[in-house]
Amino acid sequence: MKISAPKDLRCEYLRNPLGIDIRQPLFSWVVEHKGRGQSQKAYQIIVSSDSELALKRIGDQWDSGKVKSEMTFNAVYSGKPLKSCRRYFWQVRWWDKDGNASPFSETAFFEMGFLKQSEWKAKWISKKDCEEFSSKGTIFQGKYMGKYIHSRTLYLRKEFEAKQEVQRARAYVCGLGFYEMRLNGQKVGDRVLDPAQTDYKKIALYSTYDITRQIKRKNAIGVILGNGRHIKNYGYGHPKLILQIKIEYKSGAKETIVSDGTWKVSYGPLAKDGLYFGERYDARLERPGWDEPDFDDLKWRRVSAVKGPELHSQLVQPIRVIKMLKAKRLYSPSPGIYIYDFGQNFAGWAKLFVRGPRGTKVSLRHAELIHEDGTLNTAPNQNAEASDVYILKGAGPEVYEPRFTYHGFRYVEVSGFPGVPSLENVQGCVVHTDVEDVSDFFCSNELLNTIHHNVVWGELSNLMSIPTDCPQRDERYGWLGDAHLSAEEAVFNFDLAAFYTKFLKDIQLAQNEDGSLPDTVPLYLGRLYPADPAWGSAYMTLAWLVFSFYGDKRILEEHYSSLKKYIEFLRSNAEGNILKKLGKYGDWCPPGSVVPKRTPVELTASWYYYHDLLLLVRISKILGKKNDAGRYSKLAEKVKEAFNKNYLEDDHYRAQQMSPVERSPSQTSNILPLYLDMVPKEKREKILQILLQSIIQQHDYHLDTGILGTRYILDVLSDNGYGDVAYRIVNQRSYPGWGYMVDEGATTLWERWEKITGGGMNSHNHIMFGSVDAWFYRVIAGISSLSPGWKRIRIRPPILDGLDYATARVRTIRGEARVSWQKKKGSFELMALIPVGSEGEIYIPVMSEKCIVKENKKILWEKGALRKAGGTDLLFSGRKGKYLVFKTGSGDYIFNIEW
Ligand code: BGC
Repeated sequence: MKISAPKDLRCEYLRNPLGIDIRQPLFSWVVEHKGRGQSQKAYQIIVSSDSELALKRIGDQWDSGKVKSEMTFNAVYSGKPLKSCRRYFWQVRWWDKDGNASPFSETAFFEMGFLKQSEWKAKWISKKDCEEFSSKGTIFQGKYMGKYIHSRTLYLRKEFEAKQEVQRARAYVCGLGFYEMRLNGQKVGDRVLDPAQTDYKKIALYSTYDITRQIKRKNAIGVILGNGRHIKNYGYGHPKLILQIKIEYKSGAKETIVSDGTWKVSYGPLAKDGLYFGERYDARLERPGWDEPDFDDLKWRRVSAVKGPELHSQLVQPIRVIKMLKAKRLYSPSPGIYIYDFGQNFAGWAKLFVRGPRGTKVSLRHAELIHEDGTLNTAPNQNAEASDVYILKGAGPEVYEPRFTYHGFRYVEVSGFPGVPSLENVQGCVVHTDVEDVSDFFCSNELLNTIHHNVVWGELSNLMSIPTDCPQRDERYGWLGDAHLSAEEAVFNFDLAAFYTKFLKDIQLAQNEDGSLPDTVPLYLGRLYPADPAWGSAYMTLAWLVFSFYGDKRILEEHYSSLKKYIEFLRSNAEGNILKKLGKYGDWCPPGSVVPKRTPVELTASWYYYHDLLLLVRISKILGKKNDAGRYSKLAEKVKEAFNKNYLEDDHYRAQQMSPVERSPSQTSNILPLYLDMVPKEKREKILQILLQSIIQQHDYHLDTGILGTRYILDVLSDNGYGDVAYRIVNQRSYPGWGYMVDEGATTLWERWEKITGGGMNSHNHIMFGSVDAWFYRVIAGISSLSPGWKRIRIRPPILDGLDYATARVRTIRGEARVSWQKKKGSFELMALIPVGSEGEIYIPVMSEKCIVKENKKILWEKGALRKAGGTDLLFSGRKGKYLVFKTGSGDYIFNIEW
């Protein structure tokens, strides 16, 4: 039988990546099969050192031979040592479970970066005595942190000659905070806001560009350097650059061009830039030809060599301008002021198309909101100026878009525009890390679809090489709490394997000697050690998520000792096995408040200690660390006991009293122990009832949770047979709830359950309440992974009044999985796709005892019993409540239930 070749070949989760600096990179691929119950019996990978050999299928670099394995991912390169800057070609083929061999896949490649720091011959360069400017200071954690000091934007240049015909040329570049590299008058590549953020005192990431086609005989490199996060206030110096170009001539000769003391530097039309501040661009100062050869740079100064951090390759998708939005509405609230409404809150910037007299100054201000009179409301930006200014040179049509800033906004206010602008004059550029969109969710309830839309836009607005809290105000930090609370939703929606692999390294780098972590990573500002355990949990939670979602065992190995160190830090701070002092924020932003209302901060801190311990036990088991597993499970037991002893009061978990008369329970205090099954058996039902009472009687089917409780409330309800209550909470249109936000015009999620339009904590694009979307996939569509790397997939449509159909597609590491179900009068249809290598556990709702269940037109079940001689390949595994459960292998399944 003919089977098709593997597809979607990835190296380090990236397609045909440049600049791999890992000696034994990981490979993955996807296999598909027409038959059912298929899995990979074996594979063979060949890696060739040139394309000719690849064509002949000669794996001179590595030939894995036939490897017996069902794994289509996590395959570790094990051939001859890979060499820096070399390109390798790879192919893979597979054998299905019946032993049929596929042809080899198409050839993919990966190209190495620098394997040793010493291969960097280039120097970090900058401008001595760089001018500075200050922008509005920031208020952080309630404290005024002083003004931001920025360096003026720098322009650097260097000319060089290519003496012979070029075979191939690569540029390895890192410019801190942000850079734009230009070669012979053109921008190199399409990355923006590069490089990805890291703690620049420790490491910086370089990007690799293929510039073969852009090289001429005479060449000029121009680099514009902006501030980004690389500013004095965060302990870094002026912006700086390191760049190394490697040219291979057709003759075989080689040449290297490097950043060094011979480069020249000056200022240019982009005078000021700041992440929060925006940009000031004076087109009159443009010097055409500055990034081309033969430019007169006599007046330019020489650069100075400066110190820089260790360099690693940027193995995460770059930030790009992903799409352009046209405004939905343009109006003028007062003479000369125009407002563009894009109808969607997003992260990015506005692109200006203008024509007018020289010296005309056009200002663009960005905001999420407008006031009732239609004027711009910048209150949620707090101290971020978020404004870009362009001064026209007056030479026909001019186009401007910023380079080194981004904004979170829906509205752009334009002033100073020459004449009356039209909808075409300002366009929205949607900007974020260019992760692949891997899933869809859709159902019969429009409100849920809108919430899903808002989560997706909120998530994307907060993928800026690190997961950020928000894109608009003077924060945009990698708050660890926000990062892990939204992470499951994020991996459902986007391919974040490379993104989180990078972010986990950032967390590891931020760890102190004593094992503590900060609340934000990278730590730019403030005294944020040690993290609130509910924030620090991101380390364990994300490592576990990358393993469980992508099956990546390496991540566990690479972080194990640091994860353990973190737990040891918590342990050494525990008093009687609970964490009384480490909590800071707790169940942040419950209805009506920023700080937790009813939920004690030490309760959430201690709960996360237990939560992380459980994960560490699982991780130790997976890595075969038996002693650790034993030791930490004993400790976990003790923490659980201490938790119950300290916080279980009679029939509910402790709540903070709001006043002497108001004694309501805390939903979160009860949700958390239920979620981890910590409640003593005899009290379990009681605790559940307390929670339900609070939700139903006291809050009329609304949640009363902050970000921590919200993450788990829906799961606790649906896992305990109260899916209908969870659904009602989600379906609420009144305050507080996601539906309330929608009805109040939200197009992303808010930071607060309240609609607040004034100053203070009121971002309208925060992702920390986004976990609801993971519940949509798992419970509403009914698709979830039961074991690491989607080995076992559960398909379980919910039985809910008022919901008629749902469908979801999820690209797992093994390939696409799908579910689609529809309820009609007297019938129910369910379709499922289980990828090759996975097993399905399919739940068929028994809508009536008299129902007939067919799969692919064959009767499986009738008259309340299994039809024996059906000739089906499904395995009945029993009844669970209102469902019949069948086990399947991979393949497409269509069920029909009629009654
Ligand atoms: C951020 C949050 C963050 C919190 C921690 C806020 O300012 O925007 O999302 O988790 O601080 O307290």
